[in-house]
Amino acid sequence: MSAILTPIPPLRLGVNVDHVATVRNARGGALPDPVRAALLAAAAGADGITAHLREDRRHIRDADMRRLRAEIPVPLNFEMAATEEMTALALELRPHACCLVPERREERTTEGGLDVIGGGIELAHRVETLAAAGIRVSLFVAPDAEQIARSADIGAAVVELHTGAWCEWLAEGRAAEAHEEFARLAQAATQAAALGLEVHAGHGLDYASAQEIAALVEIRELNIGHFLIGEAMFEGLETAIRRMRHAMAHGRAVLRAA
Ligand code: PXP
Repeated sequence: MSAILTPIPPLRLGVNVDHVATVRNARGGALPDPVRAALLAAAAGADGITAHLREDRRHIRDADMRRLRAEIPVPLNFEMAATEEMTALALELRPHACCLVPERREERTTEGGLDVIGGGIELAHRVETLAAAGIRVSLFVAPDAEQIARSADIGAAVVELHTGAWCEWLAEGRAAEAHEEFARLAQAATQAAALGLEVHAGHGLDYASAQEIAALVEIRELNIGHFLIGEAMFEGLETAIRRMRHAMAHGRAVLRAA
């Protein structure tokens, strides 16, 4: 009875356009344009756009971030390291949200969650500064109870749960490890929501994993990039986004049937 009466919160899709810039930068020049991809993604049903301005500018550049802020019709999620330089830029651009991530130059992508506990007072101060400017602050964390508790303590509005390990184990057929990690993600989502945090998830998601994780009712947003941009080469960005939305809706529908 209660399952029928309780409305199921919608699940938003944030599309990360970093890797359009990766392809552009492989050749120099201006094409393909990540802002064009963002506009197309929004038209195809993305609820938001994410871009990560890395310290080494390996994909998105400052000018891309400025154009995204000025040109896209949906909320911009500015993914960034918790540094002085990035905080200053965020305060200038005032995006809808900032997602603070750990960053190491030698990594290929964001490999682990943010150490919110180790970030101490300095991280707490950055969260406070960004939030005071009206920016929704999200912390990209592993599904770890202590990191999540500390995220709430320092005033983050959102935690984004790192799904990278789960997706990797799924892809490698390591079913038992994937199963355990999914249980950790589910528990982390419940804990974070109980602490009043909005829960997002992302990293490494594809159609199948997005569908599966969509069944976690506390999760309100998925941020997906690499897979969608890859699929766009074969079936077009618009189709890839439509298929992703379909997969997410399918995963959410499990809740309705429960
Ligand atoms: N969320 C965060 C915080 C990320 O760092 C990334 C990778 O840039 C993503 C989501 C998207 O991951 P992927 O490109 O693997 O879909």
